[in-house]
Amino acid sequence: MSNHFGPEYVRAIAPYQAGKPISEVAREFGLDESKIIKLASNENPLGIPESARQAMLDAVSDISRYPDANGFDLKAAISEKYSVPQDWITLGNGSNDILELAAHALVQPGQTVVFSQYSFIVYALATQAVGGRGIAVSAKDYGHDLKAMRQAIADDTRLVFIANPNNPTGTFLSPEDIVAFMQSVPPHVVVAIDEAYNEYLDPGLQYDSTDWVRQFPNLLVSRTFSKAYGLAGLRVGFALAQPALTDILNRIRQPFNVNSLAQVAAVAALNDREFLSRSAKLNADGYRQLTRAFDELGLDYVPSYGNFVLVKVGDDNGAGARVNQALLKQGIIVRPVAGYGLPQWLRISIGLPDENAAFIEALKKVLG
Ligand SMILES: Cc1ncc(COP(=O)(O)O)c(C=O)c1O
Repeated sequence: MSNHFGPEYVRAIAPYQAGKPISEVAREFGLDESKIIKLASNENPLGIPESARQAMLDAVSDISRYPDANGFDLKAAISEKYSVPQDWITLGNGSNDILELAAHALVQPGQTVVFSQYSFIVYALATQAVGGRGIAVSAKDYGHDLKAMRQAIADDTRLVFIANPNNPTGTFLSPEDIVAFMQSVPPHVVVAIDEAYNEYLDPGLQYDSTDWVRQFPNLLVSRTFSKAYGLAGLRVGFALAQPALTDILNRIRQPFNVNSLAQVAAVAALNDREFLSRSAKLNADGYRQLTRAFDELGLDYVPSYGNFVLVKVGDDNGAGARVNQALLKQGIIVRPVAGYGLPQWLRISIGLPDENAAFIEALKKVLG
């Protein structure tokens, strides 16, 4: 389709490919919706926390009113949990919103943004949407090569995106490496560390990035309620950064970017330690279940620190698409990652034990 609307850099964007919805697969393959298993969007297989459901029910009757534009209660809860002042917090319509706010607030057309090959595709999209030029630095062992990323920072670089853990590869950067990187980055370059999967890290691997936010005025840390907190459909996330950077993001934020149900649900979820630890435990067990099966089948996978695993399903560049199609026919939705330059691989979100088992059975059948 030829199109003459908008700037060339917007026309050049390849739109984000979301995981296929269950209803679409049911229609396309003539399957019963209730039998379809979706392991495609790194959602929480436990569903939503009961505490969040109740909070939303209580708040529904106020839905005729606009939400609190400043998200006072949610910011207070975040402030308490992370011991940061409220003017260090930006709320987002999902953490995706935060990533886009950063690009819009900080990058002018023609300036550069550094991120890693195989890192979350929204970094490239958000960069392109503002006319920035993305510098995708070659990955090392499917993860970020921070030394090479430091070298890639140019005079006109305004923003660096780092995902830790990374999606879709699941790789993890040690706190020591991140601190060394932060110390080497020029102070006018903002580093956004995207910690969407942080809550899945083993307690032994958890680090305190708020300490770094206190130390580095050019650091922004983003978090989400979409993964371990189980609220993906509500769209709520947040950023922590010192006041100067937070102020810049807030200037271009839509006033009502986080709806009122999302705000109350997020407060409840944030304080629901039991749900969070259940999510993490289920995930750790599911990871062992999936990777044991991959080992038995002799399939390579990238060790993952998130709620998903990247697995290599063949040696030819049609393998990911072929196996994906065959799984869809059996009612299993996973995520092809050819768009990330990984056509031999599929990304499998970790589900409930039965869902993982059904996927493994289907995969065995497909691979013969
Ligand atoms: C690394 C990473 N960052 C951010 C997001 C955005 O999530 P949300 O906008 O739901 O917070 C995702 C979602 O898959 C992700 O994988």
